[in-house]
Amino acid sequence: MTAKLLDQEMDAPNHIVITGGAGYIGSLLTSELLRLGHRVTVLDSLLFGGESLIPCMAHPNFRFVKADVTQPRALLDSLRGHPQADAIVHLAAVVGFPACQAIGRDAAWRYNVEAVQHVYEQSASLGVERFVFSSSYSNYGLAEDNRPVDETDSLNPQSLYAETKIAAEEFLLAQDGDPAPLIFRLATLYGISPRTRFDLIVNQFVLEAFAKRELIIYQRGYSRSFVHLRDVVRGIILGLDAEVEKVRGQVYNLGTDAGNLTKDEIVGLVLKRLPETHIHYKDLTFGGDMRDITVSFEKIKRELSFEATLTVDDGVREVLYALQSELIKDPQDGRYRNARFIVQ
Ligand SMILES: NC(=O)c1ccc[n+]([C@@H]2O[C@H](COP(=O)([O-])OP(=O)(O)OC[C@H]3O[C@@H](n4cnc5c(N)ncnc54)[C@H](O)[C@@H]3O)[C@@H](O)[C@H]2O)c1
Repeated sequence: MTAKLLDQEMDAPNHIVITGGAGYIGSLLTSELLRLGHRVTVLDSLLFGGESLIPCMAHPNFRFVKADVTQPRALLDSLRGHPQADAIVHLAAVVGFPACQAIGRDAAWRYNVEAVQHVYEQSASLGVERFVFSSSYSNYGLAEDNRPVDETDSLNPQSLYAETKIAAEEFLLAQDGDPAPLIFRLATLYGISPRTRFDLIVNQFVLEAFAKRELIIYQRGYSRSFVHLRDVVRGIILGLDAEVEKVRGQVYNLGTDAGNLTKDEIVGLVLKRLPETHIHYKDLTFGGDMRDITVSFEKIKRELSFEATLTVDDGVREVLYALQSELIKDPQDGRYRNARFIVQ
């Protein structure tokens, strides 16, 4: 980029467009980029409302456009007459396998694959330099052995959600012009955001243990990979900050080795803070996203010097604090979950 993103002394701010910027990741990324001195335009259709962006409204470098990026001209129409965008961070999606299942294959494809193509193509005609895409480690599916999977391993989707993410990745990796595509395969996030989600494992376990004193655990031995929201935001900013030719066409697992944990280990961390919780184990398997996997994060450490700063234990403490202090008053409200909304 013209100016280093992390350098608060830069002369000219970069202009970063975030699709899905009102969401769990996007709302925190927006405020962090504004804090670092950048211009941020958010495009979001506000599937879960827009309160998450209210603290940004008064900022002179912030602009919000209510737009649906499945529409082929959404980006062009939103940016006409405004400063040139340097980078797009494309977060807008129907997120998670239950939400994709709920809206069906055609709609999931429209939101998660065709929208990526539309936004990329409009970015190209606008002369944008780089295109950051948020994919998922669920693309790896079930591991064939116990070895940690890295970015060169084959993909084995176990859900419609992962199928859409892989199709979007394939489209982006086939592009050889500008913008330069950069893909992050994120681990499962946890932590509190201006738009917190309680349908993510760590956050959900803490809420259930706190509110019901009870946790029902399926597939206790299954291993997943977890990363704190704030570390993901830092990782995305490192990707925006890197030399564009260095990251062009690259895929990075975004997470930390210490975040490779079984559900049982997460339960242990919850019990440490809420020891009176009753745990019920069930060994049912059900159709859905059956990941049992350990992920390697060597590449992002080696090439982007990414190091996670927070642990799952930090996240459990943070979520519990938000609940105990009643900063989040009604955590059962539907707006904290993705699966329950209906899109046409
Ligand atoms: N949260 C995680 O654990 C996780 C893990 C892996 C990957 N990801 C990816 O990161 C991205 C962001 O995830 P999140 O957890 O912040 O999700 P989120 O559901 O909180 O945010 C998504 C945002 O996109 C918006 N949106 C959806 N469709 C849109 C459209 N057509 N036009 C405009 N806006 C639209 C929604 O209104 C919402 O504000 C997604 O692409 C997701 O697949 C998230």
